Amino acid sequence: MHSAVSSPLSFDLSSVAFFGRGFDEYRSMFSLDTDALRGRRVLDVAAGPSAFTAGANARGVHATAVDPLYGLSADALAAHASMDHRRVVAEMRRKAGLFRSGTFASIDEAAASRAESARVFVEDYERHFVHGRYVGGGLPRLPFEDGVFDTVLCAHLLFIYAQRLDFGFHLAACRELARVSRGEARIYPAAGADGLPYPELGRLRAELAAAGIAMETRATEHRFFAGSGTMLVLSRRRPSR
Ligand SMILES: C[S@@+](CC[C@H](N)C(=O)[O-])C[C@H]1O[C@@H](n2cnc3c(N)ncnc32)[C@H](O)[C@@H]1O
Repeated sequence: MHSAVSSPLSFDLSSVAFFGRGFDEYRSMFSLDTDALRGRRVLDVAAGPSAFTAGANARGVHATAVDPLYGLSADALAAHASMDHRRVVAEMRRKAGLFRSGTFASIDEAAASRAESARVFVEDYERHFVHGRYVGGGLPRLPFEDGVFDTVLCAHLLFIYAQRLDFGFHLAACRELARVSRGEARIYPAAGADGLPYPELGRLRAELAAAGIAMETRATEHRFFAGSGTMLVLSRRRPSR
C-alpha cells in the first residue's frame, strides 16, 4: 500500500469512506437495464450504505451486497454512515472544482441524495441481514463460489483509492470480481481521485488478458465527479473448443 499524498486537485480522504449512493445513481453509473436484470442474481461489492440492493430487490432483482463492515449492528452502521457523510461532504465542498452539474445540480442535492440512500440502506439491512441479503466480506477474497452472479458491480473502491490500494490489490480484486461473475463485472468509475484515468490501466488490461479476462472501457451517462463518465467491464473469456 502507498502512503497518501494530499493534493488540491485530488479528492482526499484519510480512509475508505462508508458512504453510499442510491438506486437511480447506480442505474446511471453502471448503465443498468433494470428490466433485463429482473430475476437475475446481482452482487454489489464494496456496497457500503448504498440503497442499490434495497431498490433492486424491490424491483424483482435478486441482489446481494457485500462489504467488510456488514455484520455490525444496524445502529453501528448508521453511526458510521452519518460520520462519513459529514467527512465526505466536507471534502466535496473543499474540492468543489472536481464536480460538475449533471446527475445532480449541486453538492447540496448530491449530499441529500446520499443521506437518503444511507437511511434506506439501514432500514433494509435491519430487515434483511438475517436473510443473507447483506454479507460481510471484502476484496480481494469474496465469500462466494465461482460464477454464481449474473452481474457483479463495484463502485467507488477501485481506482478512486489508488493512493492507498496498490496495483497488486487492483489486479487481485479485478480477478476476484470476474471469478464470481458468469456475465460481466462492472467497475465504476474508471478514474482516480484526481478525475484522471487510472495510470496503470494498460498494465492491468495486459495482466487480466493473460489470466483470460477481457477488459473494456464503456461510457456511462453519469456526470458528477470529474472523469466519472466511464466504467470498466470485465468478462471471462470462454475457453475455445
Ligand atoms: C465509498 S464506499 C462505496 C459504496 C458504494 N459502492 C457506492 O458507490 O455508493 C466504499 C466501500 O468500500 C468498502 N471497503 C473497504 N475496503 C474494502 C475491501 N477490501 N473490499 C470490499 N469493500 C471494501 C468500505 O467499507 C465502503 O463501504
